[in-house]
Amino acid sequence: MKDAAPQPTLLAEYQPYPFTVTGVELTFRLAPAATRVIAKIGFAPNPERPGRHDLRLDGETLTLISAAVDGRPLSPTIDGAGLTVPAAALPQGPFTWEAEVEIDPKGNTALEGLYMSGGMYCTQCEAEGFRKITFYPDRPDVMAPFKVRIESDLPVLLSNGNPTAEGEGWAEWTDPWPKPAYLFALVAGDLAAVRDSFTTMSGRKVDLAIWVRDGDQDRCPYAMDSLIRSMKWDEEAYGREYDLDVFNIVAVDDFNMGAMENKGLNIFNSKLVLASPETATDADFERIEGVIAHEYFHNWTGNRITCRDWFQLCLKEGLTVFRDQEFTSDMRSAPVKRIDDVLTLRARQFREDMGPLAHPVRPDSYFEINNFYTATVYEKGAEVIGMLKRLVGEDGYRRALDLYFDRHDGDAATIEDWLKVFEDATGRDLAQFKRWYTDAGTPRLAVTEDWQDGAYTLTFTQKTAPTPGQDVKAPRVIPIAVGLLNPNGDEVVPTTVLEMSKATQSFRFDGLSARPVPSLLRGFSAPVVLDRAVEPAERAFLLAHDTDPFNRWEAGRALAKDVLITMIADGTDPDGGFIDALGRLLADETLDPAFRALCLRLPSEDDLAQTLHDAGRAPDPAHIHGQRKRLATAIARRLETPLAATYAAMATPGAFSPDAASAGRRALRLACLALLNRIDGGDRAAALYNDAGNMTESAGALACLIEAGRGEAATNAFYERWHENRLVIDKWFMIQLLHAAPDKTAATAERLAAHPDFDWKNPNRFRALMGALSANHAGFHDASGAAYRFYADWLLKLDPVNPQITARMSTAFETWARYDADRKALIRAELSRILHHPSLSRDTREMVTRILG
Ligand code: PHE
Ligand code: ZN
Repeated sequence: MKDAAPQPTLLAEYQPYPFTVTGVELTFRLAPAATRVIAKIGFAPNPERPGRHDLRLDGETLTLISAAVDGRPLSPTIDGAGLTVPAAALPQGPFTWEAEVEIDPKGNTALEGLYMSGGMYCTQCEAEGFRKITFYPDRPDVMAPFKVRIESDLPVLLSNGNPTAEGEGWAEWTDPWPKPAYLFALVAGDLAAVRDSFTTMSGRKVDLAIWVRDGDQDRCPYAMDSLIRSMKWDEEAYGREYDLDVFNIVAVDDFNMGAMENKGLNIFNSKLVLASPETATDADFERIEGVIAHEYFHNWTGNRITCRDWFQLCLKEGLTVFRDQEFTSDMRSAPVKRIDDVLTLRARQFREDMGPLAHPVRPDSYFEINNFYTATVYEKGAEVIGMLKRLVGEDGYRRALDLYFDRHDGDAATIEDWLKVFEDATGRDLAQFKRWYTDAGTPRLAVTEDWQDGAYTLTFTQKTAPTPGQDVKAPRVIPIAVGLLNPNGDEVVPTTVLEMSKATQSFRFDGLSARPVPSLLRGFSAPVVLDRAVEPAERAFLLAHDTDPFNRWEAGRALAKDVLITMIADGTDPDGGFIDALGRLLADETLDPAFRALCLRLPSEDDLAQTLHDAGRAPDPAHIHGQRKRLATAIARRLETPLAATYAAMATPGAFSPDAASAGRRALRLACLALLNRIDGGDRAAALYNDAGNMTESAGALACLIEAGRGEAATNAFYERWHENRLVIDKWFMIQLLHAAPDKTAATAERLAAHPDFDWKNPNRFRALMGALSANHAGFHDASGAAYRFYADWLLKLDPVNPQITARMSTAFETWARYDADRKALIRAELSRILHHPSLSRDTREMVTRILG
């Protein structure tokens, strides 16, 4: 018999669970291939669902040993997704469910539920992993206090909450705060601790510990420092105090995502904890700081207030990303952080929103929730909150957030609840604004101008293209931050937020003495694409004079893009005016080096491909690659002297410091090097590689050497020096692929995949190789199709082992529709080969089906 077609889960079908859980007691008898989990769970009828109901518990990959209700043994009906106890077999009121199950952590390669990583036990339960640990209503709106007993000979036994008892071979943890099962965590291993403490604003002392493999302690101080700064910041910026006696962080080598906010016991991918100057780049340090903060901030936005169902994922993720962005802006340079965030948003979220995987920030249907941990939910989710804040102002935002914490502490909440606190705190009607949550797609904003008798009028028209399942798009509320400059460069109208709500809308500025130059969408005040034909001279003017740093950078980026698109279209020589403008910026020592580094960075090949596609032309990846290199070479020739001077001036002698200012100097130095490398045959890079005292410069120099075609010796030396450090070897794989020449990329990938260190079941290692392969735009899209085939082969190999990673990485193909007929056919053939694989996971099936459209 054929299986019935799988059915999607729908937001519209939400119903509360028929029971509440009054308490959970778990005992773990740990053994690698046969762990016993004994659960005792109190249930009571949920008054929100009157009547009598069957007891349905989720459960997957569990072997049931015994079960009982109120002490009476029973044999429930088990299926592939869980078990059912008929209502008739249950008492009318509250009852206690007991079950013993056996699970196999050692055989768990999907890294969801209880699994083993390098000899230690650890868990990952978001989104639906707890059902692989015991039978349970595994949904976020079922919240309960947990008590956990761990039995094992391993020296360190951790779970959520506070430690309440321990003895020889066991430990007990109690978490007083009711939580959904996805926040459950357990760790057991032979681990070393780096300890510190934090005294909260009300004077409670919290013991902090970061748990790592012995020998890794000296790479923890930055993470610890970031944690303490995060705890302090959340008190100062949001009035949020930590609520347990201990806060533990554990670093694990095998982890599907970045990190996880389990209550009181955050579990991190080791690459987001471990850092020393020799092993981590400035970008690594910044990410560690940001993710430590992110997971810590979840304690209030995610844990104390959680999500009613997984459709509301952005309730915790969008808000927590927004909060970690604010934190990083406060710790480092706010304009640089804003530019970085917009670069990421455009690279990942716009790409998603313009392709077959487009979905609303709050989706309304899914087959596999793990497929919705996306740039749209996270990054666009954060942008939407940024717009809300812009609309209601600092004070309104603060009042709304206070009300949110006050009203919803302990709740499993929804986006409706979230918007309601803004309405109640500010008196604003957000019915139309809500479309940002329910409608997919990136609006395009066309602009026209009118100048008459001292009145300047801007007219905006918004349009959003259809997205899968949403053919018609209604107008959205768009906050457009605008400033006006005089022709002499003075600002005549400071930043003003125009509130657009209609399809077409005009805004008039009176009393101007001369036609102004507009600076539109300052600070990237809304996640939209601005469509406005602008003369190069006007862009150069803004690049020189805009008071808004984001728009200053944006003007330079737009200029570079115009120049590149023209070069790609007709092979003309690069524009000297653009290069000279860049030169003036480079030499402007009043500007932050990090900002200047960003200005020197050319638009990515993927971005150019999308731009060409939007203009109705099929992008040719090899040609784009060639022209982008050509522009870099022209910049290097024309600006050789100032680039060399800046390269020398930005050296950071002395002890390494990961602070933002030093990192900015290194970024500018490496940006100069990358350009000079095009004309010095790699000489500077070779010298830097030999002298480099930190990973930022070593990795930067190695990349340049490979680009210059003389990377072999350095590549080998790098391996010899670092082969015992997994995180650095991940970089070794990545750098070689990111910088491989397009026609050699697939062959390089094949060679590296045969390397004994290509431990493909480790997500970091798989991503290092395959992620870098797909990020090498011209190499991945080489006309031979070799990279497509190789990539698809590996997706098929990984799918049975780790469906989550496979599904996520299938997005390398999401842009297929941009390209020419041959490439389209090649990619579609690989996608359908994957789709027709007999035992494809639900995760990958959903993704590939959607990508094919
Ligand atoms: N909730 C985690 C975060 O963003 C991400 C995550 C999701 C981790 C699913 C593991 C599994 O902070
Ligand atoms: Zn998060």
